[in-house]
Amino acid sequence: MPSFEQSAEFKALKHHRAGLAADLKGLFARRGVKTPHLYYDFSRQLVDETAVTLLLRLAEASGLRNKIKAMFNGEKINATEARAVLHVALRDPDRYPEVKEVLAKVKAFAAQNKFNNIVAIGIGGSYLGPEYLAEACAPFALPGKKLVFVANVDGTDFARKTAGLDPKETLVIVISKTFTTAETMKNAETAKAWLQERLGSDPAVVKEHMIAVSTAEAKVKAFGIDPANMFGFWDWVGGRYSATSAVGAVPLALYLGYDNFEQILKGAYWLDQHYLHAAFEENIPVLSALLDIWNINLMGYGTRALLPYSQGLGKLPAHTQQVEMESNGKLVDLEGKPVRFATGEVVFGEPGTNGQHSFYQLLHQGTQIIPADFIGFIKPQYPLGAATAESVTHHEELMTNFFAQPDALAFGKKDEYLPKNFPGNRPSSSLLLKELTPFTAGLLLAWTEHRAATKGFIWGINSFDQFGVELGKKLGVEHRNRIMEYHATGKLDQTGLNQSTAELLQAFLNGKLPN
Ligand code: F6P
Repeated sequence: MPSFEQSAEFKALKHHRAGLAADLKGLFARRGVKTPHLYYDFSRQLVDETAVTLLLRLAEASGLRNKIKAMFNGEKINATEARAVLHVALRDPDRYPEVKEVLAKVKAFAAQNKFNNIVAIGIGGSYLGPEYLAEACAPFALPGKKLVFVANVDGTDFARKTAGLDPKETLVIVISKTFTTAETMKNAETAKAWLQERLGSDPAVVKEHMIAVSTAEAKVKAFGIDPANMFGFWDWVGGRYSATSAVGAVPLALYLGYDNFEQILKGAYWLDQHYLHAAFEENIPVLSALLDIWNINLMGYGTRALLPYSQGLGKLPAHTQQVEMESNGKLVDLEGKPVRFATGEVVFGEPGTNGQHSFYQLLHQGTQIIPADFIGFIKPQYPLGAATAESVTHHEELMTNFFAQPDALAFGKKDEYLPKNFPGNRPSSSLLLKELTPFTAGLLLAWTEHRAATKGFIWGINSFDQFGVELGKKLGVEHRNRIMEYHATGKLDQTGLNQSTAELLQAFLNGKLPN
């Protein structure tokens, strides 16, 4: 099969793009997909019917259908690590007994949990997805339950999140697939000391107050956590795709109750089935990925804004950032050859309307064009304010912006006075859902996962490994060793350090800025 950029379908797209007047005033047409749970509108993308047809052909020609099936069938599509990529199994417990068994254990544990404070320690994929879901589902939390996440090894994170917590009332969950991640292990050690200093050094304290989510039982045991209090998952669940495994199940079932966590699984399952079965022209993750490819590879727009008009989706941009950028920030194709086209995109975002008072200036009038995704809900999580002839509710006020901004970006407004001229022609898609619930939060999670994976399938790259994070970690370990040696000898061994790093590190160890 020819590579992405060598394929006849990509060449046809390039040819079409070259002759297309990329003007939204002419290209705007009502285009969208209606489903019972979400309405996806892409009327304001810089495409015409032919572009959409050619994109769909590109998807077919890339073997996307078979690649999706291969993922759902558990084939080892993560070739560099010889692993299956089966996070969809996590949402289908009736077909996967091992998933069912872990969920039953989580359910039973949550039912007898007596702790009101839950401190979840983990980073990256062992943090961002669960935090997104916890924020999105916060109104569904069990009465009296508090869930905090400690991710950063900066002691500020641990200190602030545990300030004021009663250790007697606190359960610490250490979440780490490998149980070796430096930041997580440091925070876990600090949590152990925090508990022991307050409740005593009897091993029963750790046994009662610390549990783990991991694939590494021996390491969990060596740390002092009772393996009976460990919730497992499998190497076929990638970190950033693990929010619906025990990684999310344990903290979220304790915080929201197991039934609400099950609703998250149901929402994700609904989207999984849509992805697996819907024709590509009605397939929301496939269409959104194809439009990303259009924007990245045909229009040259390498950044995307994710703009949820929902405070509850405040952590979705950060989670999406990891899913997209760790999955698709790749330099080589599946054969290990360098790619000659752009892969991945920079994703950023903030909930509306906050973003409007921050970075939207650049979206409207900046010299770079940044395609945007708007997400809105028909019903609010908190119905505040009255709908009268004189006033609108909070939610209506919020949603006026959800309707206004895409048109302002797309069509702009001419003004002779250039500082007030809005050029328009800035593409966006809008996603409208009924209400932010555990079900729809799970559905949006799966949309994010499948959208990123679809781009990787079409580009012919491996979206499921992350070797790019290793070099920095390795150099960090070397610095740790240098610092420990400095503790022992009072001297910094500068062997192998360049002058810049040597001076910065020396200043740090001296405790004062260089003259
Ligand atoms: O930073 C890279 C990474 O490996 C992520 O992919 C992963 O989710 C995270 O670190 C945490 O890993 P673990 O769950 O093993 O602690």
